[in-house]
Amino acid sequence: TEPGYIRNFCIIAHIDHGKSTLADRMLQLTGVVDPRQMRAQYLDRMDIERERGITIKSQAVRMPWTVKEGEQAGYQAVLNMIDTPGHVDFTYEVSRSLAACEGAILLVDAAQGIEAQTLANLYLALENNLKIIPVLNKIDLPAAQPEKYAEELAHLIGCEPEDCLRVSGKTGMGVEHLLDEVVRQMTPPVGDAAAPARAMIFDSVYDVYRGVITYIRVIDGHITARDRIKMMSTGAVHELLEIGVSSPEPQKHPGLGVGEVGYLITGVKDVRQSRVGDTVTLNSRPATEALGGYKDPKPMVFSGLYPLDGSDYPELREALDKLKLNDASLVYEPETSAALGFGFRCGFLGLLHLEIIQERLEREFGLDLIATAPNVVYKVTTDDGQEIVVTNPSEYPTGKVASVSEPVARVTVLAPNDYVGAIMELCQSRRGVLQGMDYLSADRVELRYLLPLGEIIFDFFDQLKSRTKGYASLDYEPSGEQVADLVKVDILLQGEPVDAFSAIVHKDKAYTYGVSMTSKLQKLIPRQQFEVPIQAAIGSRVIARENIRAIRKDVLAKCYGGDITRKRKLLEKQKEGKKRMKMVGRVEVPQEAFIAALSTS
Ligand code: GTP
Repeated sequence: TEPGYIRNFCIIAHIDHGKSTLADRMLQLTGVVDPRQMRAQYLDRMDIERERGITIKSQAVRMPWTVKEGEQAGYQAVLNMIDTPGHVDFTYEVSRSLAACEGAILLVDAAQGIEAQTLANLYLALENNLKIIPVLNKIDLPAAQPEKYAEELAHLIGCEPEDCLRVSGKTGMGVEHLLDEVVRQMTPPVGDAAAPARAMIFDSVYDVYRGVITYIRVIDGHITARDRIKMMSTGAVHELLEIGVSSPEPQKHPGLGVGEVGYLITGVKDVRQSRVGDTVTLNSRPATEALGGYKDPKPMVFSGLYPLDGSDYPELREALDKLKLNDASLVYEPETSAALGFGFRCGFLGLLHLEIIQERLEREFGLDLIATAPNVVYKVTTDDGQEIVVTNPSEYPTGKVASVSEPVARVTVLAPNDYVGAIMELCQSRRGVLQGMDYLSADRVELRYLLPLGEIIFDFFDQLKSRTKGYASLDYEPSGEQVADLVKVDILLQGEPVDAFSAIVHKDKAYTYGVSMTSKLQKLIPRQQFEVPIQAAIGSRVIARENIRAIRKDVLAKCYGGDITRKRKLLEKQKEGKKRMKMVGRVEVPQEAFIAALSTS
């Protein structure tokens, strides 16, 4: 296809504002999906996405569209719709999808108005110089207030309220007109057809049957099925097994030229060899300069994952190996814990990413897991000037520490006016620093904060929702580091530290953490033959303490010294019970106590 006929666009929206439903309608109206095969949210492939109603992996669809009305009526365009993941954890993937487009449909629920992710995605789109078409969705809803929100939206992007289109993804109303406007308002791609080929990878998906499927947007030159391609970040060369376009089912194609969007199959088995953001060129005539914007995914949040049943450890390893094939940002390494046994220390992009992986391990692989409280990555400088990267409290140096720095995030909260006080209170209690505040309309406020990332991953979202009756929306983006007064608090049973409960917290919160953990464990751990002190300590300084009183549990005393077989049976039974016990020093702790303490923390 000549670039002049192509329009590459994406739909950006806050979660639940109807992106998938609108995409479905477009597939239907452009005729690429047979009405009989249409099912809701056609593009969301993974079951878990379908169930949670969220899009994790982006996809691209090529749709022919003949303009229906206006001056350009009859013009035959080729639209490439690039789906973007909606959640904050996947900002980098979103930014790459946007970089593959010339325009974006900014979709806003006409009954809800602008939300935090509407803004975050809009800013990303503007950074990529995309043409924005503002659209109000769900105008079929009785609660829709298109006039009001058109004002809001127009004010935000600097256009007239009349420029905001109105559609219903559900009924299809206005969608044909929207497709016409995509062709009219967005510019076709521009590139150098004669230059060495350069294509950007905006998604990379593992398929059990075909290996890795790499989605690309060609910027310059041409790639054909006979070429050998080269990944510019690593220099790795691959044979092309297939090149094609999704419409939305994959269709082989002889080649892709400037502005075209499609997929490549090379037979590699791991998405790490085909990374989002990387530049693909040809081995025979390689480009000298890669396209900008490539970044290695960097895990921001770490947590230990342990099988409930220790014998499931090999299955857990296998499951993680499988998930990794499709997820270049998941990292893990084996770890042992006195309290929880053998497991893995895993790194994630954020909390949602963690939740998704945990849920997939449990659901798709049938594993029962315990996760330790998540933590962020700290940089600790020791007194002798060494810098240690701490992804696990157990790596925290025992000697003198000169300084600790923690990651910081830029946070945007959008909420109705009435909740400003409650939100400020919450942010301040989490060491937030107010950066700015804007009224989007008379009753809607945008609050911008700098907050330690470690404070956000610790039930911040739940707190925000409950303090604002669910009306606030949140977006955050990592933004550098800061030095902070942080300490490591250990929890000790009879003087032995229990690794799973060590935490790095701000100095002002150390005492609260210590008291809550010791009192929790005091209730959960059964009495032993001897007294057991439970302590919280910073280094050698004890900051909180509880005691478990001793009991004398002499099972054999009941046997009156006589019947030997009965005695043996009892001993046997006791051993059975011990299997689910973990030893911390001399203290026997039922595994359930650890799990209970972790899950309520
Ligand atoms: P994420 O993938 O989670 O970002 O959600 P989404 O933006 O793709 O939203 P989705 O299409 O899943 O729609 C969210 C909800 O809104 C679903 O229950 C839809 O049925 C409903 N919905 C979407 N579009 C419309 C519409 O035009 N009118 C009405 N009444 N409901 C709609």
